[in-house]
Amino acid sequence: MSEQDDIPFGCPFGGLNRRRFLQGLGAAGLGAAAAGLSTSASASASAKTAEVTDAPSSSATRQSHPFFGVHQQGITTPRPAVGMIASFDVLARDRAGLERLLRTLTERIVFLTQGGSVEQRDARFPPADSGILGPSIEPDALTITLSVGASLFDQRFGLAAVKPRQLQRMTEFPNDALDAARCHGDLSLQFCANTEGTSIHALRDIIKNTPGLLMLRWKQEGTVPVMAPRADGSTESARNYLGFRDGTANPQADDRQLMQKVVWVDGSEGEPAWASNGSYQAVRIIRNFVERWDRTPLQEQEAIFGRRRDSGSPMAGGVEHDEPQFAHDPQGEVTPLDSHIRLANPRTPGSERNLILRRPFNYSNGVEANGQLDMGLLFIAYQADLQAGFITVQQRLDGEPLEEYIKPVGGGYFFTLPGIQTGDFLGSSMLAAS
Ligand code: HEM
Repeated sequence: MSEQDDIPFGCPFGGLNRRRFLQGLGAAGLGAAAAGLSTSASASASAKTAEVTDAPSSSATRQSHPFFGVHQQGITTPRPAVGMIASFDVLARDRAGLERLLRTLTERIVFLTQGGSVEQRDARFPPADSGILGPSIEPDALTITLSVGASLFDQRFGLAAVKPRQLQRMTEFPNDALDAARCHGDLSLQFCANTEGTSIHALRDIIKNTPGLLMLRWKQEGTVPVMAPRADGSTESARNYLGFRDGTANPQADDRQLMQKVVWVDGSEGEPAWASNGSYQAVRIIRNFVERWDRTPLQEQEAIFGRRRDSGSPMAGGVEHDEPQFAHDPQGEVTPLDSHIRLANPRTPGSERNLILRRPFNYSNGVEANGQLDMGLLFIAYQADLQAGFITVQQRLDGEPLEEYIKPVGGGYFFTLPGIQTGDFLGSSMLAAS
């Protein structure tokens, strides 16, 4: 049920769920209610609001990514400064409710990612929008990517027969200490934008527009500096919170042929036809023990990753994007055999099957009870084959020396739905197939 369905026209309280209405009003709204809802003062207040403009428009705030297409946005689109994963439980009780949810999500995502004016409502009702971006929404490079978890394919919606073949509940790896409150979910939304306000605004919009259909389960936000190209046109990768450049050897997201192999499900490997052009999303919240790391000798740090810290180059030297030469170093004298990059991608015949597209953000949450910083990596990776991709790479990394400094505490596996054309809604092919 949408918010609009719930609010009758005419009398502000008549027929309306009064508790929800009051919750929506908050303290300020209650004051207005007490002062008399139908005064001309409140009408003129809403007219004034419509004239307000917030932060000046700029090329960054106007930046938008097309929503309709073969694939969803937010996977191969360039990574902006802010990212967030929000995971939800679906409260809809039947297929009709699930379809209403998917249609509402699609409608909100289209509006939020393309921008426009916020609907102005009679001031006797809760406003249509949180207002945190002002009355006019600019896209600000926002992408919202919808994925579904294995639990959506349980008995509730009759979807079991059409579950993507490899979609499964994430299980613990040896170094994990998974916190149940930050794991799994029926559905995930990845928000990426130029600024934090934009992604928080989008999340609040979606929560507000899906009452009775969705409940937030956990979320994790992160940031990453956007690196401007240097004078010679080359670009360096941003650093993670361990001080190393992160993303150097990521497959090129603008290489369509490569993405077709690495990222997009294509109907082969026994995947249901509806899932073509979707992708498997692996999310991990990985805490970094930064205090311990900052007391570790540089040569040990570099041996752990298998790269030079400052330049990001291979251990042999050179520049960041030089290819590491493992074949010439079979004993690991230059790049240790148990270094992160050598385990993650041994560059042996056949290991290209295990490539994944990473899209991580650095997070900083606050302080742990023991006085240590709670910061780390919001690891997000996309792949056409979850087993050959994330799971195999993580299994190779199990026991790596980096584990002394990291602790995965949350996340989950999801399937990112295929893109859609105008007039359609996300997940329609999944519902039609079942
Ligand atoms: C806090 C946890 C992690 C940190 C700090 C981290 C950091 C790094 C760094 C600094 C690099 C080298 C630069 C680059 O190519 O991006 C790298 C490479 C890589 N990492 Fe991680 N990583 C973490 C977790 C993971 C996980 C969980 C996976 C997958 C299971 C993973 C997969 C990879 C891959 C595939 C590469 C590229 C290797 C290559 O092709 O040379 N990383 N990581």
